[in-house]
Amino acid sequence: MSKRIQANDVDVYYGTFKAVEGVNIEIAPRTVTAFIGPSGCGKTTFLRSINRMHEVLPGAHVEGELLLDGENIYASNVDPVRVRSQIGMVFQRPNPFPTMSIRDNVLAGYKLNGTRLNKARADEIVEKSLRGANLWNEVKDRLDKPGSGLSGGQQQRLCIARSIAVEPNVILMDEPCSALDPISTLAVEDLINELKEEYTVIIVTHNMQQAARVADKTAFFNIQGVGEPGKLIEFDETNTIFNNPSNQQTEDYVSGRFG
Ligand SMILES: Nc1ncnc2c1ncn2[C@@H]1O[C@H](COP(=O)(O)OP(=O)(O)OP(=O)(O)O)[C@@H](O)[C@H]1O
Ligand SMILES: [Mg+2]
Repeated sequence: MSKRIQANDVDVYYGTFKAVEGVNIEIAPRTVTAFIGPSGCGKTTFLRSINRMHEVLPGAHVEGELLLDGENIYASNVDPVRVRSQIGMVFQRPNPFPTMSIRDNVLAGYKLNGTRLNKARADEIVEKSLRGANLWNEVKDRLDKPGSGLSGGQQQRLCIARSIAVEPNVILMDEPCSALDPISTLAVEDLINELKEEYTVIIVTHNMQQAARVADKTAFFNIQGVGEPGKLIEFDETNTIFNNPSNQQTEDYVSGRFG
């Protein structure tokens, strides 16, 4: 179920502006990878290119190759909707559909892609996904209440439940804890640790302790100046990136000398 991601010479553009240049990376299944680097270095942009969310913006495009278990997700015969169901995404701010019930939020992916489910199957998916997101016990007695009635941390776990409900291979998370309090953050981090048994997980974070806690591997991105494209500088075991990086820019960043 968990799949390998490979980027070969990936450039990501907004119109004529090249925001990310020359990314080569291979991310193994059943691992958590953190993307770190200063603001504007292209972490979100590159992350969004991995499930074809980037091209939703007018003029935005991607060059190079992005492979999911060897299959080019940008090949002309590949449906972007299918890519997004295989490669789920969780955003910085929890974004449950506010008027939908908790249950319907979990099932939203099926509604969007037009899959019909009978009640028994739907119940099964709701329970499994909420259990998978460590949220079941907190919400099982109020599945028909609106998703907006949950705490921020619960909403973020609901969004994770929604993304795993459609059984993706990969889960992308863009600063999923930045709007959360420390307790909710730990709950989401515990969950990320469990998710890697079944999924390939990539998480963007500005919190180095978080990267050190959750990620097996860490990718450091950097930018040389305004208007320059962001680049992947170094990718290695998290421990190596934080304690013994090979690149001076990585060293400067992780030791807090810059960024
Ligand atoms: N919709 C857009 N249109 C044009 N340029 C954009 C757009 N979104 C981002 N950019 C530019 O692309 C570059 C990379 O931005 P991106 O959001 O990927 O950075 P980031 O590393 O995620 O930063 P942060 O840590 O602040 O979230 C920046 O120069 C940014 O201004
Ligand atoms: Mg970002």
